[in-house]
Amino acid sequence: MNMNFEEMRLSCKEFTDDVSGKLMNKMPAALKKAEGLPFIPYTVRENEWAPGPFDGICWWTNGFWPGQMWAMYRMTGDDRYRQEAERAETRLDEAFCDFDHLHHDVGFMWLLSSGVNFRLTQNDRSRKRVLLAANLLAGRFNPNGFIRAWNEDRAGWAIIDCMMNLNLLYRASEWTGDPRFRMIAMRHADTAMDHFVRADGSCNHIVIFDPETGAVLDTPAGQGFAPGSAWSRGQAWALYGFALSYIHTGKKEYLTVSQRVADYYLSQVANDWIPRCDFRQPEGDDLRDACAGAIAACGLMELARLTETKRYFDAALATLGALEAHCAKWDPTSPAILTRCTGSYHGNDHNIAMIYADFFFTEAILKLRGDPFLFW
Ligand code: GLY
Repeated sequence: MNMNFEEMRLSCKEFTDDVSGKLMNKMPAALKKAEGLPFIPYTVRENEWAPGPFDGICWWTNGFWPGQMWAMYRMTGDDRYRQEAERAETRLDEAFCDFDHLHHDVGFMWLLSSGVNFRLTQNDRSRKRVLLAANLLAGRFNPNGFIRAWNEDRAGWAIIDCMMNLNLLYRASEWTGDPRFRMIAMRHADTAMDHFVRADGSCNHIVIFDPETGAVLDTPAGQGFAPGSAWSRGQAWALYGFALSYIHTGKKEYLTVSQRVADYYLSQVANDWIPRCDFRQPEGDDLRDACAGAIAACGLMELARLTETKRYFDAALATLGALEAHCAKWDPTSPAILTRCTGSYHGNDHNIAMIYADFFFTEAILKLRGDPFLFW
């Protein structure tokens, strides 16, 4: 029997209500610990919020805390969350003046802060912030067909994570009526289909292009195990990112690619649903990344909705169940929700909390609750 998304999500109402209750119990204490901090939360050390390791206010995850606050505002209507989201958004203004440290993640930074604020409150300052950020992102476009990710001597470097930043450009075209932003986003997404996603549905994290000609020069490991491996968070960025590009543009190929990546992801994720950091890391190496699971759950839920495929919904639900049972900390002593996240395979940041894992977990629960608001 075919089920539509509404029927699927209602079938797990008990789980949704249980986790929603836990979020509502936990987050007031997490908010209290953030009040008055001179930085925006990234991770947790000794049960207190801690900042990103470098880049200061330009640290790439600084939109996720305001995003998390808006998510809780959607869930509860509690004005304290809106106020904290707006406090963080105002702090981000300082980043606009630090051009040298800005990067393609202006999408994450301003879409989840100012973008959500404008769409929920019509705050005109927030609209202008989004458009300024979109112009910065569009300014990183190389006419060979890609958006450069990082700075210094990496003019030809593009990364799969950028699929999520494209949503800033789609919104900018929607709000201004100027198609340039969407055209740039689609050129980048088309390049990503050709050069990041492999025939088996796995993805490169990084592709280095010749910035003069657009020729592919190299595909290094990035945050994954090795060149040619399959960093699970990269798979999740592609899975959700292409689904969102389909939602914003209607281009069918993006949906097809998202499904191809999803099918690869589902063929690799361990039976316990908490992804290994890299699906091609050595046998017996049990390094995990709960964050990849949370992002993938959001993408799988969109695929379930778009294609009315229960298999995707069941996988999203199983993932959220596993994260809740084995990675979530509901005790309010520590402010973050998910543990067992990994920054990068070869880095030292293993088994940590990461604010974006909490955001995507909460976003997924909002989808289960039937909230129609798409943050992207
Ligand atoms: N490259 C950003 C991330 O850690 O996913």
